[in-house]
Amino acid sequence: MLSPDAAIETVDLAKRYGRITALVGLSMRVERGSIFGFLGPNGAGKTTAVKLLLGLARPTAGDALVLGAPVSDDRAHREARRRVGYLPELFRYQGWLSAREVLAAHCALMGIDRAARGHEIDQALATVGLARRADDRVQTFSKGMQQRLGLGVALLGRPELVVLDEPTSALDPVGRHDVREIVRGLRARGTTVFLNSHLLSEVEQVCDRVAVVDQGRVIAIGALRELLRADTVRIRATGLTDGARASLAREGFSLDGDGERFVARDVDEERVPALVEALARAGARVHAVEPQHETLEERFLALLAPAAEGGAQRATAEKKEQH
Ligand SMILES: Nc1ncnc2c1ncn2[C@@H]1O[C@H](COP(=O)(O)OP(=O)(O)OP(=O)(O)O)[C@@H](O)[C@H]1O
Ligand SMILES: [Mg+2]
Repeated sequence: MLSPDAAIETVDLAKRYGRITALVGLSMRVERGSIFGFLGPNGAGKTTAVKLLLGLARPTAGDALVLGAPVSDDRAHREARRRVGYLPELFRYQGWLSAREVLAAHCALMGIDRAARGHEIDQALATVGLARRADDRVQTFSKGMQQRLGLGVALLGRPELVVLDEPTSALDPVGRHDVREIVRGLRARGTTVFLNSHLLSEVEQVCDRVAVVDQGRVIAIGALRELLRADTVRIRATGLTDGARASLAREGFSLDGDGERFVARDVDEERVPALVEALARAGARVHAVEPQHETLEERFLALLAPAAEGGAQRATAEKKEQH
């Protein structure tokens, strides 16, 4: 049963384009006021999911509620859509318009009160760091500046939900940092943010929950801290003889490395004190112990590996057939 309290909820949402299955069996819930990251390699189905949520494409199966309105109910969805800000993946504004004019045109399209427009536009320009270029033509903007402008458009009218398709793809490190701050600021005022990305470190730094999608299927979904294991411990210690290492191994702690720096794998955080005790008992002098979180990139690659292997096997099989 779909729940109207979530910002987004989907059940078995699917989209086919002819023979291509762009998305299949997408079931997810995005809580209001949270930041949700939708990740996957090129062609995984991320933009397709966004288009289904925004009513830009129709699902072949399943349904989705966006701010409580089903995408299958045109009228309700169109009304809800007014409370959603959207940064599309590929967009171009008329080059001869200034940033301010682009924003003004969108204010008009959105039916924002005339008297409120000036303030709304100034706020958007300031938020995305374009205030000083407000009256320059868009054709004189760099890619990153255009992306900032797109983000400004998505923020007009204080939407309840902001959907960003690759918001940082054209941005330099400063721009990415700015977008993270903007996204966090949105969450702080209760706005929900749904963002597509393949830039994992970006996502890792801001998202509360993520879904990883590959070849149209969700292969992992959950809170970041549930998805990322913290089971590797870096150790700096002296006095660890081979005998001491053997006795540690008997206690279930096998260390890689030599000299002073070691890595213990498969040690979850609760076992770290036991590891330190075991090191001391074995006669080591412990200088540093640092549990390491798996990075999202490591997790992502591990999740995608079976598919990649399958792909490689398929490719090999096809090659054999040709011979
Ligand atoms: N209008 C369309 N007609 C036919 N196939 C499409 C259409 N839109 C998307 N597809 C296909 O659906 C699949 C998913 O595409 P989608 O754009 O959702 O991927 P994505 O995850 O956003 O990728 P990227 O990271 O490159 O933006 C791809 O195989 C793509 O070719
Ligand atoms: Mg895309």
